[in-house]
Amino acid sequence: MNLKGRSFLKLLDYTTEEIEYLIDLAAKLKAQKKAGIVNKCLNGKNIALIFEKTSTRTRCSFEVAASDLGMGCTYLDPSGSQIGKKESIADTARVLGRMFDGIEYRGYGQEIVEELAEYAGVPVWNGLTNEFHPTQMIADTLTIREHLGHLKGVRFVYMGDARYNMANSLMVTCAKLGMHFTACAPKAYFPNAELVETCRAIAAETGASITLEEDVMKATKDAQVIYTDVWVSMGEPDEVWETRIRELGPYQVNKACMDNAAKDVIFMHCLPAFHDLKTKIGAQMGEKFGITEMEVTDEVFESDRSVVFDEAENRMHSIKAIMYATLMDEEQ
Ligand code: CP
Ligand code: NVA
Repeated sequence: MNLKGRSFLKLLDYTTEEIEYLIDLAAKLKAQKKAGIVNKCLNGKNIALIFEKTSTRTRCSFEVAASDLGMGCTYLDPSGSQIGKKESIADTARVLGRMFDGIEYRGYGQEIVEELAEYAGVPVWNGLTNEFHPTQMIADTLTIREHLGHLKGVRFVYMGDARYNMANSLMVTCAKLGMHFTACAPKAYFPNAELVETCRAIAAETGASITLEEDVMKATKDAQVIYTDVWVSMGEPDEVWETRIRELGPYQVNKACMDNAAKDVIFMHCLPAFHDLKTKIGAQMGEKFGITEMEVTDEVFESDRSVVFDEAENRMHSIKAIMYATLMDEEQ
């Protein structure tokens, strides 16, 4: 398997075998780190991290992984660069491509990261766009494999806003890896029809299936993974909170749907999560709408079925794998 020089923009660009290779590599690098094995095999290389939206996990994962591999790392925050304001994406890409060996980009439209990759001349890694969050996918599938032992045939249910980056990426991932994906949401929040068609075509080859279901009890029956995400994503206006809370409220992950699922069901969330009132936005919404939790109840979030912190840790190991695979000359 040789992924050297490839960008990592969305899983649609990768074959099933390539995705499985990245999951295996992440597991291997995780085991090495746990064993205290230091391998600064990318010593002398440098990466740039462009963040036009905020981050905790993705930024820290890139920085720790770069340091573990011996690379230098420069962080450009949402206000600290000329990108998009005084300098076009294409020009920025050509400048950074002269200085860095790889570039991470988190921001808005998928077309931005695609353009960056077209002009940079070095691998570009998508750290989240409105449409896709591919690095999260390697971490999530590694986490599922660690807990359930396999991926093929797993019954996976995504609850909430199924039109955005997380549901899109999870649907593609399940299709590629032969998993059974159900989007459980009101009709208006179902994923884009064209992407559903694309995923169904992939699913026909891999043994996966793609289901769209409005009924929570039908969707969660015997599920092995129940996944959710925030109801309002970064970059969306505050005004949508009220509608989302009203329309997505019935799709909250709670004890009733976990009890309806398979015995070995795990709960997953890319994080950050609104499971209590201990955040500024959570407290504001609590006061305004009289609620104490949103997309997931605190009970489920804190339960022994919740693997959210394993998932968060795996972000680092999987981002390390993605950089290693796309930057290393040959596997060492
Ligand atoms: N899951 C995730 O991408 O988290 P951050 O926004 O903290 O990077
Ligand atoms: N849908 C969320 C994911 C955060 C990791 C967002 O885009 O804000």
